[in-house]
Amino acid sequence: MPYDRPDHHTKKAKAQGFEARSVFKLEELDQRFRLARRGLSAVDLGCFPGSWSRYLLRQGMKVVGVDLKAPAFGGGVWIARSVMEVEAEELVAAVGPAALFVSDMAPNTSGNRFTDHIRQIRLAERALLLAEQCLQPGGDFVAKVFDGEEASVYVKAVEAHFEAVKRVKPEATRDRSVEFFVVGRGFRGSTSQRAERPAPV
Ligand SMILES: C[S@@+](CC[C@H](N)C(=O)[O-])C[C@H]1O[C@@H](n2cnc3c(N)ncnc32)[C@H](O)[C@@H]1O
Repeated sequence: MPYDRPDHHTKKAKAQGFEARSVFKLEELDQRFRLARRGLSAVDLGCFPGSWSRYLLRQGMKVVGVDLKAPAFGGGVWIARSVMEVEAEELVAAVGPAALFVSDMAPNTSGNRFTDHIRQIRLAERALLLAEQCLQPGGDFVAKVFDGEEASVYVKAVEAHFEAVKRVKPEATRDRSVEFFVVGRGFRGSTSQRAERPAPV
C-alpha cells in the first residue's frame, strides 16, 4: 500500500487551501496548547511546502520560515538554506524575538531506522539551539522527533529550558509513523536573559 495515498486529511488540507496534511498536526497542537498569538512572531523550521507557515500567518502571526526550498507564496520571510547554515541573528532580524518556535523538520529517510532517527535528532537539536537564542521568555516551542534511542535525552534537554514539556502524537500523524512532537511551554529565557533579570529581594 503506498504510504502517501491521499487520506481525508490530505483532501481536507487541499480544500482549505493548505499545502500539506501536516497542517492538522499543528492545528491540533494549537487547539490544545494555545500556541499561535496574533500580532506576535513565529519561527518555522522545515517550512516547505508551507502549510504550517500559512496556518500561523492565518492566525495573524509574523513568520520567518527556513527550508532547503522556499514556499511558493508571500506573507512570510523565507530563508532557502539548510538550518545548519542559519544563525539566530538572521531569524530575529527578520521578525524580532519569537513568541513561538516550531520545527517540523525531517531528513530524507534512508530506510535504516537508527540512521534516520539520529539524522532527525540532529535537526531537532539544531532547532532547540536556535530557539534558545530566538525565543522571548515565556515563549513556546514545538519540535518533531523520530522516536528512538536518543529521544528521551532530547526531551530532557527541552525540559531544561521550559516550564512545562509534553510528548504528543497528534491524531493526524499516520499510524505507522515513529514521529512525535515535543511541546515546550514557557521558555525560561537564555542564560544571558536570566542574568539580566533582577535578583529576587
Ligand atoms: C515534513 S516536511 C515539513 C512540512 C511543513 N511543516 C508544512 O507543513 O508544509 C519536512 C521539511 O524538513 C526540511 N528539511 C530537512 N532537512 C533540513 C535542513 N537541514 N534544513 C532545513 N530544512 C530541512 C525538508 O526540506 C522538508 O521540507
